[in-house]
Amino acid sequence: MTQKTVLVTGAMGQIGSELTGELRKRYGSENVIATDIRELEGRLAESGSCDVLDVTDRAAVFNMIKKYGINTIYHMAAILSATGEKHPALCWEVNMNGSINIMDAAVEFDLGTVIIPSSIAAFGPETPRFDTPQETILKPKTMYGVTKVCGELLGDYYVKNLGADIRGLRYPGIISSETLPGGGTTDYAVDIFYRAVEDGRYTCFVKEDTMLPMMYMPDCIKATIDLAEADRESLIHCCEYNLSALSFTAGDLAAEIKKHIPGFEVTYEPDFRQAIADTWPASIDDSAAREEWGWKPHWDLESMTGDMLEKLRARPH
Ligand code: NAD
Ligand code: SER
Repeated sequence: MTQKTVLVTGAMGQIGSELTGELRKRYGSENVIATDIRELEGRLAESGSCDVLDVTDRAAVFNMIKKYGINTIYHMAAILSATGEKHPALCWEVNMNGSINIMDAAVEFDLGTVIIPSSIAAFGPETPRFDTPQETILKPKTMYGVTKVCGELLGDYYVKNLGADIRGLRYPGIISSETLPGGGTTDYAVDIFYRAVEDGRYTCFVKEDTMLPMMYMPDCIKATIDLAEADRESLIHCCEYNLSALSFTAGDLAAEIKKHIPGFEVTYEPDFRQAIADTWPASIDDSAAREEWGWKPHWDLESMTGDMLEKLRARPH
């Protein structure tokens, strides 16, 4: 089997930082190159090769692949939904032109698997809100969502017409304790844990009854690597797998945390992110991922909440 030499873009981000750690365990620290537009620091920088890479710089992307002899890419660099609504042109530039540079490199260098995530943001208000099907209406109302749908379609084009091996998942909101999320609408589901542990109170920026699909980071990492490792022949879809684990309201999450911190107080002051959340599904049908590459989540609301609180309480203050 060919040795995997992996490039992770956006490695300083919420998902990239933990994904890089797991990939280094599997493929060897020296074989996983962590990159980001920001200088790499901390455990990421200490545990393996790192480099600064702006994915919108096409020449830099191509040079990086040559420099390290990359054959596999996990493309995590992006601008998320809330930041994307404040800076739509930047969102388009990073999410579309960055992804096109990665896809072109996949063809130019005849790379192996390239993972390019999509999101529940690919859906919109016309999409069925509950048990959202794999094949459905994709009319997002955010610039972020527009870039995710375009990324899925382009990925498909590169697979079918240019022979690239591009794969993608529509991640739900990801909850984690290592790196804070980077400007999304689902950030409240992470922030609430930090505030519960540090202050015992939280002001939530979506309404109490807002229900969105979510997933704990260990399941996200597992799904991502499992898809990358799946037998290509078994994949009927490729760039747009629905992915599901949990669905709960902000109020359900607060109630679950209160079981551990009885005095925890939550108030609800919806801001511009409420309008984004209102266009996204409440729950997802991920049967294609289950059937085609064996996806099955491990963590539920109860086990995730217990684990998140334990991890955050154990952090040095
Ligand atoms: P994040 O915002 O935490 O991290 C993104 C990283 O990209 C940051 O470290 C940032 O510095 C970097 N970046 C920004 N512009 C760049 C550029 N021009 N060149 C190189 N790096 C750049 O995002 P994340 O949550 O880790 O998301 C990773 C992927 O997963 C994205 O495609 C995102 O759309 C998708 N996703 C995430 C979630 C979630 O809840 N975290 C949900 C759905 C989809
Ligand atoms: N968590 C992401 C966001 O809120 C969903 O793609 O932007």
